[in-house]
Amino acid sequence: MTANELPIGVFDSGVGGLTVAAALLEHLPAESILYLGDTARLPYGTKSPETVARYTRRNLDFLLGRGVKAVVVACNTASALALDRIEASVPVWGVVEPGASAAARVARGPIGVLATESTIRSGAYEAAIRRRRGDLEVIPQACPLFVPLVEEGWADDPITEEIARRYLEPLLDRGAEALVLGCTHYPVLKPVLQRVAGDAVSLVDSAETVAALVAVELAAAGLLRVTAPGGPRVELCVTDAGERFQRIADQILRDGAPPLEWVEV
Ligand code: DGL
Repeated sequence: MTANELPIGVFDSGVGGLTVAAALLEHLPAESILYLGDTARLPYGTKSPETVARYTRRNLDFLLGRGVKAVVVACNTASALALDRIEASVPVWGVVEPGASAAARVARGPIGVLATESTIRSGAYEAAIRRRRGDLEVIPQACPLFVPLVEEGWADDPITEEIARRYLEPLLDRGAEALVLGCTHYPVLKPVLQRVAGDAVSLVDSAETVAALVAVELAAAGLLRVTAPGGPRVELCVTDAGERFQRIADQILRDGAPPLEWVEV
């Protein structure tokens, strides 16, 4: 197999990063993906930078060991806390910088950032947006209940709407015109978040921007795959049993999810 034919490695703490994998599959129709969901160690969003960096390093080593030509860190917490601490022999992209670029492009007024506690505490989104648009107010909001609600499959439940209202109201009261979905699980909540925020507020999902960036940079590195593989385009690995993972993955991936492989990292 040539380097170009190797899959793109993608990892997240759980199932949410599949929203990024789905965007990659859409933008890069010839590529295949090796996805790792570190379900045994989820959540990352409440953990220290040191711990998240250690998990990130292990995930990266696992993917490199299986043979990937590039890696997308499809976890906002790992991108915010660990990306600048790791080195790799292949291109590695996080989701925070592309998310901040997308937000800076669409926003005209205050930008709300919705993310896990650790991502908010790191200030990574605020810094990345301010570097691009120093004129805009950035309002951070940790939303710790969103991940368990998505994992539970309650994206469309009245309880989720009520909780979203509690998290979003302070941002909307301060005039937020765009909301960055700064956690890979949150795109699953888009319908409820849009309902609560209203149509005038833009929801910024970094998945599309990440996919576009990966397409450009893979091409520049001469690593694009030209012909799609004959078989399945996605392999899914998890570090803990994944009944729930399988169910949600089936909803996120357009062609449904393949069977899961249980791995140790
Ligand atoms: N994947 C994480 C993120 O994007 C959210 C889930 C977790 O806390 O591990 O921040």
